[in-house]
Amino acid sequence: MTQLKWWQTALFYQIYPRSFADGNGDGIGDFAGMTARLDYLHDLGVDAIWLSPHFPSPNWDCGYDISDYCNVAPEYGTLEDFKTFLHEAHARGIKVILDLVLNHTSDEHPWFLESKSSRDNPKADWYVWVDTPPNNWQSCFDGDAWTYVPERNQYYYHYFMKQQPDLNWRNPEVKQAMWQAVRFWLDLGVDGYRLDAIGTIYEDPALTPHSVPMNLAQLRRFSETARTPEEIALKERYWHEMFRHQWGRPELHDLMKELRAILDEYDGDRMLVGEDDDIAYMGSGNDELHLVFNFPLMRVARMTPAHIRRNQRERLARLDALPVRGWPCNTLGNHDTSRIYSHYGDGQHDAELARLNAALVLTLRGTPFLYNGEEIGMQDYIITDPTRLRDTMATWYYQALINDLKVDPAEAALRAGEMSRDKNRTPMQWGLLPNGGFCPPHVTPWLPVHPNYAEGVNVKEQIDNPDSMLNYYKRLIHVRKTTPALIAGEYKPLHPRAEEYFAFLRFTETQTVLVVLNYSPQHRELKFTVPGKKQAHILFSSAGRGRRSQPLTRMSVGAFEVLIAALE
Ligand code: GLC
Repeated sequence: MTQLKWWQTALFYQIYPRSFADGNGDGIGDFAGMTARLDYLHDLGVDAIWLSPHFPSPNWDCGYDISDYCNVAPEYGTLEDFKTFLHEAHARGIKVILDLVLNHTSDEHPWFLESKSSRDNPKADWYVWVDTPPNNWQSCFDGDAWTYVPERNQYYYHYFMKQQPDLNWRNPEVKQAMWQAVRFWLDLGVDGYRLDAIGTIYEDPALTPHSVPMNLAQLRRFSETARTPEEIALKERYWHEMFRHQWGRPELHDLMKELRAILDEYDGDRMLVGEDDDIAYMGSGNDELHLVFNFPLMRVARMTPAHIRRNQRERLARLDALPVRGWPCNTLGNHDTSRIYSHYGDGQHDAELARLNAALVLTLRGTPFLYNGEEIGMQDYIITDPTRLRDTMATWYYQALINDLKVDPAEAALRAGEMSRDKNRTPMQWGLLPNGGFCPPHVTPWLPVHPNYAEGVNVKEQIDNPDSMLNYYKRLIHVRKTTPALIAGEYKPLHPRAEEYFAFLRFTETQTVLVVLNYSPQHRELKFTVPGKKQAHILFSSAGRGRRSQPLTRMSVGAFEVLIAALE
């Protein structure tokens, strides 16, 4: 077996800095808070942190609109605080990767301020400028993709908010400037990058218009109200059709190769994970990205065994077909999507399903990424007061619903709250204290804390409760770390037609492990035939079975049980 790299064996944990831990009591997370919680992450079993943007930003898109790539947002601390955080993480054996936003900067970045100042300044061509809007392209956040600037009497292009102008990556000076920023953090010792929205870096040079008979707000509204299978299929086609000329260009491969070459100059196996599910961005397997996320796994309303098996069959076959075999990367939640607990719940067995899905991510082949808070079962918190929304794509939609689409304000508020990403970005719930212990009692946190911190969804109480979600995650992570087949092993599905449970093997030359995830309230007696194996020695059971053995011919699996067993 070839020696695995750290990013293949690591358990990653995404920290959303604004919401993780408030060290200075201003209602906003910061580096002092994050550093103080490193022991918590270490105890949980985290090997690597993906830090969402920590750079200075006017926060039109919560940090994904960067105004200085080589510094730290003042509300999060100083560069010295960052260095302390990195040092303390490394001292605990925890790697740190940063978020790298290449597609766009903030409209307050000095590059853009200069670029927009005239048509002939040195950075005039650093962004994408046109004399008149050449097509009907939409921004995926706030309507028209072309915004007017009087100083130049021209329009610039933005795939996201108008406060996030797209850089012109066809200009070599842009590359050089960005590569300097990339090196700045690598020189400080960071272990790699999560690459934001890479698919959108290049657009169709022919500027082909889209053919959807709607604008963004109309399409959003249409999607919300689509009911029939035809409407649902149409909405999906429209979303694809509306944006397909604005992303996924082949030029990106060369850019990723250039970036990869920079990382490879450094020691320590620095890594890149792309916010994209296209395996093509792994190049030949060792010359573009190290990992891309398996988003198709998470993009379903209900997690079913059939969906998981189909997903694994397709993804693993494509990874295997790369000249250098690719490594999978699985996640079920992040700062852009509903929380696992809410997303895949059925309203009746949410806790059981959340536990099953945690086990899924931690036992499938590949590197798992967790999102802060999922380990205590945090849930979406829908903000129905539009004045409290901080996700500007939602406040934009709220206004569009009322002003353009003439939707009733109460309905608009609900829709905006539901589509807003604020619901899955609320502060981490640390204890049974006002504000969930995130910030001092008299301080208003930047987003409201989910009131269920008072119903046991908090770290402090869960640490003390052996049956808590937190201790469940810890036990599962421990089993993963101490079971080589769960990290390095191959994958083989069993009982491929089972609709209510997902059973599979993970195996190396020396160890074979059976995983059964029972996605139903039905207790089962299952019979497995695995050549050369007779007994299943239980390594983990969510039903609290002891470490006993069961014959493979009569495996008892309880309602919603997660069972992991070594075969002998
Ligand atoms: C990515 C980020 C998202 C952000 C967008 C624009 O999708 O995950 O939060 O809004 O890029 O940077």
